[in-house]
Amino acid sequence: MTIVEFRERAENHKRAASVALSGALDEASFEAAKTSVWSRSVQQSFSKLLGELPITERPEAGRVFNDLRAHIDALLAEASIYFAVSEGASQAGRSLDLTMPARERWRGAKHPVTLVIDEIVAIFREIGFTVALGPESESEWYNFSALNFPPDHPAMDMHDTLYLGEGALLRTHTSPVQVRTLQRHAPPLRILAPGTGFRRDPFDASHAPAFAQIEGLAVDEGTSFVALKATLTHFAQKFFGKTRTRFRPSYFPFTEPSAEMDVECRLCGGVGCSACKGTGWMEILGSGMVHPSVLEAAGVDSERYTGWAFGMGPARIAMLRYGLPDIRLLYDSDVRFLAQVAE
Ligand code: DAH
Repeated sequence: MTIVEFRERAENHKRAASVALSGALDEASFEAAKTSVWSRSVQQSFSKLLGELPITERPEAGRVFNDLRAHIDALLAEASIYFAVSEGASQAGRSLDLTMPARERWRGAKHPVTLVIDEIVAIFREIGFTVALGPESESEWYNFSALNFPPDHPAMDMHDTLYLGEGALLRTHTSPVQVRTLQRHAPPLRILAPGTGFRRDPFDASHAPAFAQIEGLAVDEGTSFVALKATLTHFAQKFFGKTRTRFRPSYFPFTEPSAEMDVECRLCGGVGCSACKGTGWMEILGSGMVHPSVLEAAGVDSERYTGWAFGMGPARIAMLRYGLPDIRLLYDSDVRFLAQVAE
């Protein structure tokens, strides 16, 4: 044995190893090729040859042997990666394209109306309001009579709804929660009641037959229209940023006096446009001093206590906030729209 022959053996083994490993496309054939290429006996036969060399040539032969080992290690690593990939690909039943971008995940997000409700509730929580809830299937008494709608009053025309039988109906507003809460909790109290109302309304650009509402109620000794105005103005400034507001006289059977609150049109800044019908203002809520007969119906002494209340539609407010031309965008569940406002 000479060093030249030793080198030749090592080179031949490299070539044989390449050929053996290139056919290893699954785990079993890889393990078989690995054993034949770099078994203990293969390694021993190389050290035996090395021992047959003259002492002076052994250091050089050691280097050749180490080079062979490194080469085979690299071949094994390469082959094992290759068969892992090809196995994965055949399991998936298609060839694996590692350059393809990963699929994006959709996390989900809150609906714009939910975002608006959460924000409104947070603003009122800061000033001492708590959340109260009531049923969507309501009695005529809570929905109308206790709220001072006289029988067959024209105000009820706007509140046509689905009757469920035995005096039950789908509530037309969240105002019945005022009465339910006052029956259970003695004043002073301040509540906010978010929920759904139902009316026989056409589904058009500004109406939906099932809609979100938020009711507000404060009852205390000596609370007045001043507190109502200050609270709702504070709310509008917090929610919309610095904005002008105004109160207009209005009518609701359950409040006296009654007022509607407008904010400066968000789209034209108060100049007048088609969205605000040229007025420069947009209505955001109804409000007023709670009518004494409502307090009495709920068992509250109307000589001792006064109250004020308001009701607003978060979907309308979402339209103002996001500049939406049609309320139906908020009901269609079109992800292309929702993704634009999702937070
Ligand atoms: N319930 C009224 C409606 O659905 C809204 C409303 C107006 C509620 C004035 C109030 C209020 O509490 O004071 O049209």
